[in-house]
Amino acid sequence: MGTSEAVLQVFSGAVPCLFGSDPCFSKSDSMSPFKSRIKFVKKRGSRYMLKCSCMIRSHIMTHRLHGVGGGLYGNTSIHRSQLQSCKCQGADSVSGIAAEAGNGTWFVDNAKKRNPINGVMDTPNVLEFQDVQELKLEMEGSISNGAVETARDTFVKVRVDSIEDEAWDLLRESMVYYCGSPIGTIAAKDPTSSNVLNYDQVFIRDFIPSGIAFLLKGEYDIVRNFILHTLQLQSWEKTMDCHSPGQGLMPASFKVRTVPLDGDDSATEEVLDPDFGEAAIGRVAPVDSGLWWIILLRAYGKCSGDLSVQERIDVQTGIKMILRLCIADGFDMFPTLLVTDGSCMIDRRMGIHGHPLEIQALFYSALLCAREMLAPEDGSADLIRALNNRLVALSFHIREYYWIDMKKLNEIYRYKTEEYSYDAVNKFNIYPDQISPWLVEWMPNKGGYLIGNLQPAHMDFRFFSLGNLWSIISSLATMDQSHAILDLVEAKWGDLVADMPLKICYPALEGQEWQIITGSDPKNTPWSYHNAGSWPTLLWQLTVACIKMDRPQIAAKAVEIAERRIARDKWPEYYDTKKARFIGKQARLFQTWSIAGYLVAKLLLSDPNAAKILITEEDSELVNAFSCMISANPRRKRGRKSSTQTFIV
Ligand code: GLC
Repeated sequence: MGTSEAVLQVFSGAVPCLFGSDPCFSKSDSMSPFKSRIKFVKKRGSRYMLKCSCMIRSHIMTHRLHGVGGGLYGNTSIHRSQLQSCKCQGADSVSGIAAEAGNGTWFVDNAKKRNPINGVMDTPNVLEFQDVQELKLEMEGSISNGAVETARDTFVKVRVDSIEDEAWDLLRESMVYYCGSPIGTIAAKDPTSSNVLNYDQVFIRDFIPSGIAFLLKGEYDIVRNFILHTLQLQSWEKTMDCHSPGQGLMPASFKVRTVPLDGDDSATEEVLDPDFGEAAIGRVAPVDSGLWWIILLRAYGKCSGDLSVQERIDVQTGIKMILRLCIADGFDMFPTLLVTDGSCMIDRRMGIHGHPLEIQALFYSALLCAREMLAPEDGSADLIRALNNRLVALSFHIREYYWIDMKKLNEIYRYKTEEYSYDAVNKFNIYPDQISPWLVEWMPNKGGYLIGNLQPAHMDFRFFSLGNLWSIISSLATMDQSHAILDLVEAKWGDLVADMPLKICYPALEGQEWQIITGSDPKNTPWSYHNAGSWPTLLWQLTVACIKMDRPQIAAKAVEIAERRIARDKWPEYYDTKKARFIGKQARLFQTWSIAGYLVAKLLLSDPNAAKILITEEDSELVNAFSCMISANPRRKRGRKSSTQTFIV
């Protein structure tokens, strides 16, 4: 029996208790049309799918409803009333950070506290853009000059409220159900697109803002289900041309499929079908999925107050499997995680292979979150020690070697090269000519940022938004660095935010660089998509970072800019051009994480305290260990002896 099969058996043994508290899976639910049983099915020789035979009988299938009020979700046809009757209501028993008082608000419309929306999809309460225009004209025509200001405020509030309402409706419409329970959100529900590719799947990374939005609304079930079901997928046997990646890998995405039940023509069953990259364009392994999963798990516990999920043995095992995969020794000299191109949000060839900042920031964040959640037990002492050592080494490495500002840039400009010694200043042998002309002009006097990647003789000087923002959120960057990153965002507003927040990276690869680095990728042409396109979903990460640094007004300004057109443009996936003026060439419309990213930004700006579920503060042990390391750094104190110290926190 292969290792993966053995693991699978252990996990399948654990399955019945996994859904113990879920009404849709409970034994007493004998009257329910969803008779659930979970089994692993070996498909096409080597692939497994998780099957939950909710026997959806043909008479139920005839009630397929489409669109508003109906329930055709993610290829799963279930009558809406069935969904509601099965819907788990776990939110009332828990309390947590969401209940804490907020710090204050920055938005004119924040006075409005929305009630939890029940059955909102049946309520036509969304003002169309035209309706709003008419309302504006009416209001302007009917009031005296003295009241114009108030009327304008009211108009803005009505418009913004209607955008939020629309966003909630769309987010709910994007929900995917598995055996009657919500389990995730579809990547995009674009009625205008004929070629869906894999946008009809639930992507792990795309679900994070959706999950956070639901958590902040007090709707915990969908997040809990997502966490537990994706955990099951982690132990899949996954192969590409007979090769299997490490056991802790989480899929990039999964799909709920409805298939005929074996031996019964009148019934169907649902299966979860994951993609670990073996079908993805370019066959890219999603390194970020497991890291995001850990981050969401912590946020779930903090927000709902329900720690029982993270305490479960199978969940603890899942955390350890991800950590072991990341911490495993390899050939690398650096504490940063070595990955292939396209292993994160940028999932195409963009020259970010090696040690991209985004992965390092998520890695650091996941390590801190995992440390908080891992139950102390003898068996995990080694893992926790390795984790602590890695945290210190990683933060030292990033803060020291990835940071650039005017001063550091000038240092690099004057670097000596070919230093063979333990106490080299230019450790990575960076040739000063690598400093591109754009950077000399672009670097503001006040501000700085973490570069995109560091390799031998190579610094990728591009600014990557997600990596920088998540370094602030996770405290991978120091407080000074974090402020400097936000200073840079402010100073370079016209480049990074412009007409639609936020550039995924800056600047674009052009000409020969684009040809060589992207392989002449027609989707990643300069100032489009991953190549310096603008992604509204990044608003939520910007908001969390700004709240952490007590500078929420920066995010509020960006949200206001997005609000001017995002709903009118139908919630595109991304925007193109230097100033983000066009809807992206191949952008999906009604992209769920654009919708959820906006909602999370709004929810957090109205209750900044809630951002704590995502933030990790630097702890004093780490600071101590870090300062030991700084004093042992050859740049400050030379000599081999001191640099070989190890730190066990
Ligand atoms: C694209 C994006 C990726 C996202 C996926 C689904 O592939 O690059 O980050 O997860 O679409 O939206």
